Amino acid sequence: MAHIVAPSILSADFANLQRDVEMINSSSADWFHVDIMDGVFVPNISFGFPVLKAIAKHAKKPLDVHLMIVNPDQYVPSFKEAGAEILTVHYEACTHLHRSVQNIKNSGMKAGVALNPHTSVSVLEDIIADIDLVCLMSVNPGFGGQKFIENTYHKAGLLKALIKNKHSKALIEIDGGVDLDNYKKLLQSGADVLVAGNTVFSSKDPVGVISKLKT
Ligand code: DX5
Ligand code: ZN
Repeated sequence: MAHIVAPSILSADFANLQRDVEMINSSSADWFHVDIMDGVFVPNISFGFPVLKAIAKHAKKPLDVHLMIVNPDQYVPSFKEAGAEILTVHYEACTHLHRSVQNIKNSGMKAGVALNPHTSVSVLEDIIADIDLVCLMSVNPGFGGQKFIENTYHKAGLLKALIKNKHSKALIEIDGGVDLDNYKKLLQSGADVLVAGNTVFSSKDPVGVISKLKT
């Protein structure tokens, strides 16, 4: 399978959101990566449903919604209604992760689980067969434009082996600090989905950067 590139809207110009959404529509990107932060699970607040709906109104590609919030279960139906196709919750935010995953799938979305940099992939052993995507955080969640954590290559390899071993179909997504210097090594380490915020949006040629990340 060809890998997926998901530009992160967190780095877009929010005063020109429609323009940036249309830039992604016209590019070779596959998904929109949309970060929701609550100021509790992470030390930052991004945006909520009105903005997500505004993105969905113009987006012509799937919305990959990454929840960095506590108690995600209570908002699952609202995220479906707002247009999410893939909904990712944090392992560290879910006491009953199996229930959260089933809720997401029963609502008609694909279910993802994100792991903070300090969380071992081994915690997914008993749920990996039930999930569609694992988001490996390659920075501490909360902000765009941070430095990539090198241990992520090692984690991606371990996760690839776990997925194979458990006959899971989960995709491996890398989120944080992905750039034109590390993306090839990430793909070689097993990544299926590359999230890129700063690398895409700080460029004068975001469409060109996206097409490089696709090759
Ligand atoms: C970080 C977010 C990321 C962020 C990545 O908490 O989950 O999706 O947008 O941004 P970059 O690519 O700039 O590190
Ligand atoms: Zn994210």
